Amino acid sequence: EGHRRLVAVSNRVGPLNDEGKAGGLAVGLSDALKRRGGLWFGWSGNTSSKGTFSEAATEIEGDVALTTIDMSEEELSGFYYGYANRSLWPLLHYRLDLAEFDRQSDRIYRSVNQRFAARLSQMLEDDDLVWIHDYHFFYMGSELRQCGFRGKIGFFLHIPFCPPEIFTALPASHDIVRAMLAYDVIGFQTDTDRRNFANFCVRELGGEKLPGHRIRVGDRVVVADTFPIGIDAPGYARFAVSPEAGEHEEMVRGMVGDRLQIIGVDRMDYSKGLVERFRGFERLLEEYPENRGNVQFLQVAPLSRSELDAYVELRRELEELAGHINGRFATLEWTPLQIMTRGFTRRALAGIYRAARVCLVTPLRDGMNLVAKEYVAAQDPDDPGVLILSRFAGARSELTEALVVNPYSTDDVARALQRALTMPLEERKRRWEQMREAVFHGTAAHWCDSFLDRLENADNEADGSA
Ligand code: G6P
Repeated sequence: EGHRRLVAVSNRVGPLNDEGKAGGLAVGLSDALKRRGGLWFGWSGNTSSKGTFSEAATEIEGDVALTTIDMSEEELSGFYYGYANRSLWPLLHYRLDLAEFDRQSDRIYRSVNQRFAARLSQMLEDDDLVWIHDYHFFYMGSELRQCGFRGKIGFFLHIPFCPPEIFTALPASHDIVRAMLAYDVIGFQTDTDRRNFANFCVRELGGEKLPGHRIRVGDRVVVADTFPIGIDAPGYARFAVSPEAGEHEEMVRGMVGDRLQIIGVDRMDYSKGLVERFRGFERLLEEYPENRGNVQFLQVAPLSRSELDAYVELRRELEELAGHINGRFATLEWTPLQIMTRGFTRRALAGIYRAARVCLVTPLRDGMNLVAKEYVAAQDPDDPGVLILSRFAGARSELTEALVVNPYSTDDVARALQRALTMPLEERKRRWEQMREAVFHGTAAHWCDSFLDRLENADNEADGSA
């Protein structure tokens, strides 16, 4: 097709197959790269003494080259655990209460961005389309310009962008947003995120909003627009009827018998609203006692970033709460709630989704949430389940026929659960068909194509280093 080469950069690289994908970035980006081919550059997942000076390793899979470098222990701790996940992650998810700032990790974060840019720039051709992903690499674009790269550079933020009132608490907030102006196109998951970013530019940097979702700050003009990420919907629907999915569907059905299955699948992260969700389930059993003995809630929660205190604390709290709920309601033949930290393949999960009457996706704040989309894609058209979706998940703008809840409201969650568990087949079908439509329309391919189209066509006022 005469495409220009796509060069994608993210902290985690791969996998391209369906095993062990942690988070929406891996899901969306691997589908996009498999289709289009190109280079995917990032961290190897390993530490070594040479760190970002280590030799690059490349694996070729079809049309995709996966190239990675190591980090040193110090880089990993300052860049990944420190700045990315102790400062930026909580802050961008509106959790100023959990954010910690220190100048050491700020320094290392910048230097890791600089090092990755220096390594990447040696592999670039001027007509490559460079696409940087997520909050680990805000400075990459401006560092690539410093290295002399003149081609197009886009950036996509997979997680929310908080309002300027919160973001300004970050000591380097101005530096970060100014550096982002080096990109030609900046993509967000939702209009809210885009607006928060634009408001920061206007209020903090004296910028101006221009037509066509562009922003001018000084003499720089950038495109800042909304590109909601999706899944490979047809592919996922096929997963759901694969033998591996079938086995897992049968296992779950065998385990629950005549009971109705409720499912939740999330990395164990405080942004996911798991504690609030468990309380909502407890309230369901309190207020609608007919469900006792008749529903089964399975929460799959693979451990994530477990070196960080906030994550250790969350795990402790969840396990305590699960114990409390089971202790309170369990009988000899029924345990209401099961929590597992082991993960499943995406095929296996698709089968588990298919066996579940209700899926709880109740983050306190989430960029998009692809579990919501996968649950929809996996359903049996003749007997689809019900999606309960937080008003604070990015997916909410597309999945308008989900039962939308305020995850902070225990009563709201309990009521939605009761409504989902008693919803007639006709209504389940009607709601599911709208959502299916949305999931099959807003695919990963669509996300990738519309972003890259926009990037290829962005005016070349971009060259800040000229
Ligand atoms: C989210 C982020 C990704 C990240 C993933 C898993 O989806 O947007 O950038 O890779 O979480 O988190 P981890 O810290 O394990 O990479």
